[in-house]
Amino acid sequence: MRIAFFDSGLGGLTVLSHAMNELPNEDYLFFADTLHVPYGTKSKAEVKSYIYQAIQTILKEDVKAIVIACNTATSIAVNELRNMYSLPIIGMEPAVKPAIEINRSTGKRVMVFATSLTLKETKYIDLVRRIDDTNIVDSLPLPKLVEYCEALNFNEKIIQEYFVKKLDPFDLNEYGTVVLGCTHYPFYRKILKKLLPEHIHIVDGSAGTINRLSQVLQTTNLLSSQGNQDIKFMCSSQSEEYISKMKKALSIFRGVEDLA
Ligand code: SIN
Repeated sequence: MRIAFFDSGLGGLTVLSHAMNELPNEDYLFFADTLHVPYGTKSKAEVKSYIYQAIQTILKEDVKAIVIACNTATSIAVNELRNMYSLPIIGMEPAVKPAIEINRSTGKRVMVFATSLTLKETKYIDLVRRIDDTNIVDSLPLPKLVEYCEALNFNEKIIQEYFVKKLDPFDLNEYGTVVLGCTHYPFYRKILKKLLPEHIHIVDGSAGTINRLSQVLQTTNLLSSQGNQDIKFMCSSQSEEYISKMKKALSIFRGVEDLA
């Protein structure tokens, strides 16, 4: 049985890549909701119905767990999905907690990049309210990054210009950590690293999610030792072209293929 990864588009591949490193003896299914990407700029009700449709399609496959490899979908639907289905469902969480820990001793601020929908959701607002006891967390939506990623646009100049424009109102010396709170954003980690002052750490939620996945598979006796990292790629538009794009994006992210 495969572990399913679900995202609106290509972003979840950054989480799948982490799983492939940590759980090499598994087989995977990756489903992208290409008919409806991006999620982050749409209404909650709309996105919720897309997520339900996608999960029903995934459940027709032979899968033993689902990773919602999308921060927006997690914040909107993970609790309901867990109530609806009995198989393990693991979500994403912006890595705000580790980011605050990193900054404890420095007094620097934390900047969370995520979609507008994630940042508006009570799941995120409650998380920050619970752990940001010294009010050091700021949030910034970066919607164009999802667009660029879906177009496999890794043009350093264009992406840098976008970051520079969005970060212009902030004094970056005040910040110690940037959180990538959307699974598309790690595609741009290297470009961002070059741009930010050297002292700023960049964190994302993949490690936390894959640790949780691994624990859950262990406790439910679902860990495999037979798998071979075979990946079945699926998308809601059933487009062969998009499936090739997913394979290319995964190779680019894993450093197997050059940016083109
Ligand atoms: C998007 O579809 O807008 C990106 C979703 C996410 O990873 O939060």
